[in-house]
Amino acid sequence: MANLTGKVVIVTGASSGFGAESAKLFAQEGCKVVLCARRLDRLEELAKEIRSAGGEALPVEMDVTQLEQVNAMVEKTIAAYGRIDILFNNAGFGRLDWLEDLDPIKDIQAQINVDLLGVIWTARAVLPQMYKQHSGHIINMCSVAGFAAPPLYSIYSAAKFGVRGFSEALRREAIHFGVKVSVIYPGGASTEFQSHMGENEAKKHFKTPDWLKLTAQDVAHSVIAVAKRPRRSLVTPRWQVLSSFFNSHFNAISDKVQAKAFASYHQPRD
Ligand SMILES: NC(=O)c1ccc[n+]([C@@H]2O[C@H](COP(=O)([O-])OP(=O)(O)OC[C@H]3O[C@@H](n4cnc5c(N)ncnc54)[C@H](OP(=O)(O)O)[C@@H]3O)[C@@H](O)[C@H]2O)c1
Repeated sequence: MANLTGKVVIVTGASSGFGAESAKLFAQEGCKVVLCARRLDRLEELAKEIRSAGGEALPVEMDVTQLEQVNAMVEKTIAAYGRIDILFNNAGFGRLDWLEDLDPIKDIQAQINVDLLGVIWTARAVLPQMYKQHSGHIINMCSVAGFAAPPLYSIYSAAKFGVRGFSEALRREAIHFGVKVSVIYPGGASTEFQSHMGENEAKKHFKTPDWLKLTAQDVAHSVIAVAKRPRRSLVTPRWQVLSSFFNSHFNAISDKVQAKAFASYHQPRD
């Protein structure tokens, strides 16, 4: 297990959920944490909490869909700490609905921009520094929806399947230059994610029951485990590996079961 003390860690999506909890744990491990998101007030609160516990944090207001803000955040990090050891590439949201009911710009383009393009831009922005150091670790946040795509998840899964493919190629590009790429695939968790999902009726019937949901802390502990021991993929909870296995080996059955289960809630518009 690698010691994380003194590592410089960028966390995107640090204003809530997995990002905020992971940032706290990274700080407890002795890392210098760069906290990124759009809600600066939340980041400043979190930075205060981390500093009062003896840690080090730098809040940076940043929208992952704005390339110049992403590049400026990387410059600020290097100016403050001189290096970048870990990027936890986590910012994202999901809007889950029938494709015809998703707004082309606010729902479809926005999800691709944040969940896929934002991940790609942020990884690309840290790479030159990591290559210069000949060391670094990019941890991309995916989802179980990145290997099995249920109805309502068309765009979210398109983005997360994209994150999976992007990560695989980047891992193979970067490893010989000292940069590792890991991917985390969580199942349903209780965070503010739910407040952005929308109000689709079918989703209410097919949501992860509360007793099966992860907490942000559960996922944050997985993030720290991956930071200490990089790996191609970490699926959490472990039993979700079965979803991937079943989806890829029994795809026709998955199609039939899910199509039938969701069809009764779906009244396509003309
Ligand atoms: N919760 C789940 O069930 C679940 C399961 C699997 C995977 N995931 C993935 O885990 C990641 C974190 O989700 P979460 O559950 O922690 O949700 P969350 O509590 O809603 O946190 C999402 C974070 O992303 C940030 N964000 C959103 N749009 C952004 C933008 N344009 N620029 C910069 N930051 C942005 C938000 O900050 P601001 O709004 O302040 O910008 C917030 O800090 C996402 O990638 C999500 O897809 C979640």
